[in-house]
Amino acid sequence: MSSRDRILALLRSHPDCWLSGEKISAELHLSRAAIWKQMSALRSLGVAIEARHAKGYRLLEPPDLLFDRDIVSGLDCQIVGRSLQILQAVDSTNLQLKRQAEAGAEEGTVLVADQQLAGRGRLGRQWASPAGVNLYCSVLLRPLIPVQQAPQLTFLSAVAVVDVLEEVGHIRAEVKWPNDILVGGAKIAGLLNEMSAETEQINYVVLGLGVNLNMTTEQFPAKLNYPATSVLLETGRPVVRRIFLRALLERLDCYYAEFLRRGFAPIRQRWEQLCPIINRQVTVDSGPIGTVVGLEVDGALRLQCASGAIERIVAGDVRLVN
Ligand code: BTN
Repeated sequence: MSSRDRILALLRSHPDCWLSGEKISAELHLSRAAIWKQMSALRSLGVAIEARHAKGYRLLEPPDLLFDRDIVSGLDCQIVGRSLQILQAVDSTNLQLKRQAEAGAEEGTVLVADQQLAGRGRLGRQWASPAGVNLYCSVLLRPLIPVQQAPQLTFLSAVAVVDVLEEVGHIRAEVKWPNDILVGGAKIAGLLNEMSAETEQINYVVLGLGVNLNMTTEQFPAKLNYPATSVLLETGRPVVRRIFLRALLERLDCYYAEFLRRGFAPIRQRWEQLCPIINRQVTVDSGPIGTVVGLEVDGALRLQCASGAIERIVAGDVRLVN
């Protein structure tokens, strides 16, 4: 255990008690300077530690830390989360994990950051990633499936996020094709899945998941061109990020195992249950009008036109007609 983890564990085992620097130093065999340095690091990560002259330090509340060892111990996962890295800050978890994938990182490697300095969204957009509030997570997979089927993994991550929003956040979300998660029409999570492939073979897919957990209104960028929300804004209750992360890794692992065993069908079925425009009339970028009848194996939307013909929608903004 790192000295930071040991200090935190000691403070936790004495809730609401003052622990002098001398006592901590004696128990953990650390110098006073090392203790001071680690206390400052913990406080800068948002841990509420009070420090008083002649009294020492005390923990004021259970912290919402990501780097805590509790996340990995007893994690019920076969593939996703085999290797887990939690960083304080990174440019983008997707970018960092893609670098590691190029260097040969194993399938199931997960990278999480407390903060992203250049969080990326779809279509070159930015993804607001302030420290200490949300989940920014990337997962490396190396599935032996045809390249055209890689988009199926986007739907896999979508259903996992919706399930965990319900289980841990007590919030009912829905999916918006192709890769948004909405609550009451406002975006609560986004997915950015990136692939490297040869003609016939996938080298790797990085699933990027951004979930707005405890973000407040002021923390959203002033100029967002879509409505956005967080679990805190929806329910008034904060979510402990490491609990959300654990549940999400377990759910992703479970869906991935099922995907490798049984293919896309169970995920497609779950996604269609969560998609409010199934069997509704829509228009795509003011183009074709039709009834949404489901997903194709490559993730395209199936639209049944008035003539009965099925059109494949591969991109575009889909809106309800009425
Ligand atoms: C979108 O809806 O535009 C996709 C947003 C994806 C954000 C996540 S946060 C973790 C991962 N790292 C990134 O830089 N982006 C994704």
